[in-house]
Amino acid sequence: MTKKLKKFAVIGHPIDHSKSPTIHKAFASQFGFDISYEKLDVHPVSFDEKIHELKEDEFVGLNITLPFKNKAFQISDGVSEISRLTQSVNTISFKDNKIHGDSTDGQGLIEDLKLNEINLKGMNILLLGAGGAAQGVIFDLIKSQPNSIILHNRTVDRAKKMIDDWSVHANKENINLALLDVEEIKQFDLIINATSAGIMGNDLPMPIHLFSSETTYYDMTYGSETAFLKGALRVGARTLDGIGMLICQAAASFKIWHQCEPDVKEVIRLFK
Ligand code: ATR
Repeated sequence: MTKKLKKFAVIGHPIDHSKSPTIHKAFASQFGFDISYEKLDVHPVSFDEKIHELKEDEFVGLNITLPFKNKAFQISDGVSEISRLTQSVNTISFKDNKIHGDSTDGQGLIEDLKLNEINLKGMNILLLGAGGAAQGVIFDLIKSQPNSIILHNRTVDRAKKMIDDWSVHANKENINLALLDVEEIKQFDLIINATSAGIMGNDLPMPIHLFSSETTYYDMTYGSETAFLKGALRVGARTLDGIGMLICQAAASFKIWHQCEPDVKEVIRLFK
């Protein structure tokens, strides 16, 4: 009897740029698994219908990207703790005719930082942005027990709301979670860009005086040198883009679906 091909897809709008099929196929080949993995561009009005259609079509799992992570959370029959807290789903598994949602973005960031020998414990971190991307990683950052997580966002009220939402968790871990005071020049160990400023244009999502050669700059986006990364390189600081995070979050999805851990370093090398 021939083994049934396991079907997967990534869903977004747009989706052309997605590297997920290449990453998942590279992981699968490490284990000799035969999988199919498609890119599906779905119009927002037909998102729910498409998910149900793929479930009926015996897909095993889906990755969900922009702008559907919250919609995927809403449509799930059951979700992991991290998805419940972040109201975001980037990994769907179909099991017993049900939709199970998980979020591996935060884990992807933390794993990539570890691979780059960045230990968050006791660090002072500045997190830029208060949209879905920032929300998706803040819980995992808190769990890594830095000394402080300072938030900065163009629309200050969104950052304030984020602090209100997460302060219970930060307090539990004894972490200072606060808004950036632009008057106070502060040295950070790590600045993470979780805004879409780099993708959308050349805007710098933080005050220029925060560039320092002593700080590490991590841009969660990849594929272009953003104003954020350019500024960091100009002062001779260490920079990292989001390709490692993308591969590490994919590895965590792969583990959920296949119960085995791929070699991320091999795939990161392939992309760099
Ligand atoms: P995502 O899911 O990618 O986080 P989002 O929820 O639309 O998308 O959030 C985008 C984030 O990037 C927000 O923090 C946004 O700031 P605002 O809350 O003020 O909109 C930030 N952002 C987008 N363009 C920006 C720019 N040109 N300069 C600074 N911040 C920007």
